[in-house]
Order: sequence, then structure tokens, then C-alpha cells
Amino acid sequence: MKKLYLRTFGCQMNVADSELMAQVLAGEYVLTQQAEEADLYLINTCAIRRKAEEKVLSLLGSLKGLKKRRPQLILGVGGCVAQQEGERLLAVAPHLDLVFGTHGIYRLPQMVRAAAAGRRVVEVDLKPGLPPWPQRQWPPKPVKALVTIMKGCDNFCSFCVVPHVRGREESRPPSVITAEIADFLAAGGKEVTLLGQNVNSYGRGLPEPITFPDLLRRVSAMEGLARLRFATSHPRDLSADLISTFLDLPPLCEHLHLPVQSGSNRILKAMNRGYTREQYLEKVARLRQSCPGIHISTDLIVGFPSETEADFAHTLDLMAKAAFDQAFSFKYSPRPQTRAATLPDQLPEVVKAERLARLQARQDELTIKAHGRLVGQTQEVLVEGLSKRAPEQLCGRLRTNRVVNFPGPRHLVGRLAQVHLTEAHPHSLKGRWVEDPPTP
Ligand code: 5AD
Ligand code: SF4
Repeated sequence: MKKLYLRTFGCQMNVADSELMAQVLAGEYVLTQQAEEADLYLINTCAIRRKAEEKVLSLLGSLKGLKKRRPQLILGVGGCVAQQEGERLLAVAPHLDLVFGTHGIYRLPQMVRAAAAGRRVVEVDLKPGLPPWPQRQWPPKPVKALVTIMKGCDNFCSFCVVPHVRGREESRPPSVITAEIADFLAAGGKEVTLLGQNVNSYGRGLPEPITFPDLLRRVSAMEGLARLRFATSHPRDLSADLISTFLDLPPLCEHLHLPVQSGSNRILKAMNRGYTREQYLEKVARLRQSCPGIHISTDLIVGFPSETEADFAHTLDLMAKAAFDQAFSFKYSPRPQTRAATLPDQLPEVVKAERLARLQARQDELTIKAHGRLVGQTQEVLVEGLSKRAPEQLCGRLRTNRVVNFPGPRHLVGRLAQVHLTEAHPHSLKGRWVEDPPTP
């Protein structure tokens, strides 16, 4: 068997896509962790911000030497940058053999064979219609699964490149999704994350009428499922029905990622988000009311074109009012083809950097406080593996998605364990395993 080295950048959707790439190529290639021994080197790319794109281009440049040492190596770029740049990538990287877009994964075997025959291949069509999705094969003893339920996005937030590189929204039929999950659960899997750019609009366009909460109800009822999560939700489409599922469906974890992007109504409008800060805060209040203890995380952009100090103050104020448990914050980055990139009054980098630092400092305080409130409690942890920083420790997550490290025996990996939380850190907690009571 030939060897495939796969390097993945970006979001969970890309991670799921990379798993699919490895799977469609599994007839001819086995995965390797050593780039030096690869026969096929694929980079799955992210275009969400300029920095993400630059990382990809610099990696691509650094691979010239490897290609020289291994002339038979096939070098390919897929994902969002490939979709955005297409043929232009071949021009900037003469050592590149293959460029494939976000809809081309299932055709990889043919493309790779053409590249092996000496052709430089580019396939970046964004075809409407779901590609024939190969049946997922789960590894032995899986713990967590990322299950794609829909692709694309029709929202066209003015800053976002995703609708341009992932095409129109389309949902997979529920029977296909539940069959994939049934296989995962039969293999012993515990936790499923349903993925889509905008999961709340799941079901639009399917012949069978079904909403996202309906899908959650179906999946929750599946035998053996311990935990269910989903990402990402658009605040505009967060329905009362969805809010009520947190209380009604036992496997559904008390965690919601609800990107707000800004706390200023003027900026939200310019972003084309379709809600106001008041509407957002109202939804957060309803979530906390119907699911006490829910962990709400968010995404924030600072320095959107024309953002004033007063707009930014509104964002800080919303952050405090929403009391986010976690926030991922970014400097606005102009993206090709997006409306915001053409707006006047783009802000200088120093202003963006300074606002980002202030916002992150504020959120760190909030996160530490939220973590501190958990110290002294005993909670369920799904043990995912050994801790990366301290391999003598185990690493897992609470239902609220917080990371917990604790010393414990390896046989707990893949199992639910009760852990007494002892220390709060900015990005994780420490704990002590509470051993199962001996069975009589
Ligand atoms: N600049 C900065 N951040 C962006 N995001 C999306 N597009 C941009 C951009 N052009 C952020 C949003 C989104 C997250 C995945 O990335 O906050 O929710
Ligand atoms: Fe981008 Fe907005 Fe679609 Fe999210 S909802 S992927 S931010 S366009």
C-alpha cells in the first residue's frame, strides 16, 4: 500500500472532510504520520481569515524540498483555499500536482490517478446537488464522531467567505445520517457532533418535512448514544423548539456555540446577521432559563469596517451581559468576493489588535470565573485520551465541553468517568477520578 500524509487546517467541517478523504483513498493509501515517507501529501485548507490562508501558502512553499527529494510524491491542495484560488495555485506553486475543491472529495481517487499519470489536475466546480457520499467507515473503538448533516451556507454574512467556497446549503436525508450514526454506535462510539455551517436551517429543501429539532429527537433516541452536540447555530434561526430540546433530550449536552460576532446593532446590520443585540440577549436569557447551567460559547469579530470605539464598547457590554463561558475572538480580515471587503473605512491593524487584546483580557476573566465556580463539584467526563502536555494524565470533556485533565488508568479512555474538579485554569480544569463503587 502507498502512504498518504494529510495535513488539516481550519474548522471541524474540515476535520470531517479530511476523514472522508482518507476513507475514499483507503483502497490505495494508508495514512502515515511521517511526511517524509508519503507518496501522496494532501493539505486540507482554510480560507476564513487571511492568516489561515497564509499558513497554507507558507507550508506549500516549504514543501519544495520534499518534492525534490521525492519526485514521485503527489502533492495536492484541497478545501476552501483550493476552492477560492483554483488554477491560480498551480501558477504560484510549480511543484503542486493537484487542486481539488470542497465538492470534489469523492472524486479524489480518479484525480490522484490522473496526477500520478503526470497530469496537473484542477477540479473546483461547485456543483449543486449532494455528491454521492461514501458510507462512513469508523475506526476500531471510536469515541467521538463528527457527522456532517448539511453542507454550504446561504446566509452571506458580509464578512464571510464560506458561502463562496462551500456553495449553497443542502441537507443530507435523515435516514442517511442515522444509518451513519448507528454504525458508529455499534462500533462502541459514545459522542456524536452534528455538523453544518448553519444547522438551524437543516431540512430545507428535503422531500420529507423535517426540522433540526426533529433530527435531534431522532438521533437522541438511538440506542447507546451517551452524548450529542451540534455546531454551528445561527442566532437568527434559534427557535423556541430548539431551546426546549436541551431540557427534553437526555443525551443532548448542555452546551451551545452561538456566534454573536458583534454587540453593536449598526455593525450587526452591516454584517447582514439578521438580528439585533436585544434579540440575541433575549435568546440567551431564554436558554439559561430553560437549561440552567448551559455553557454558551460565541465568536466575535473586532474591527469590522467602520467599527467605532462606541460600537466596540457595545460588544464589551454584550459580552458581560451574556456572560459567555467561552469566546473565540478574531480581528476582522477582508476576504475575496465578500461585500465587507469592498466597504470604505477599513480599520488600521493596530486598532484591531488593540481591541482584540482588550476583548480577550475581559473574556479570560469571565472564563476563569466560570471555571472557578465548578471547583468542588463532581461531574461526568468522557475520557478522550491521554493529555497531550502531560501523558501521565487523562484528558476528557465535561458535558458542557470544558476540558478536564486528571490522573487515572488508561482503561478509562473511551468511557464516562466521574471526576471531582479541583483546579481551574484559563483553558481547562484539573480533577481527581472518583472510582466506580465496587460492584457487589
Ligand atoms: N474575519 C475575521 N473573522 C471571521 N470569521 C469569519 N469570517 C471572518 C473574517 N472575514 C469568524 C467568525 C465566524 C468564525 C468561524 O470565524 O466569527 O463565526
Ligand atoms: Fe459565514 Fe454567516 Fe454562513 Fe456562518 S452563517 S458560514 S458566518 S455566511
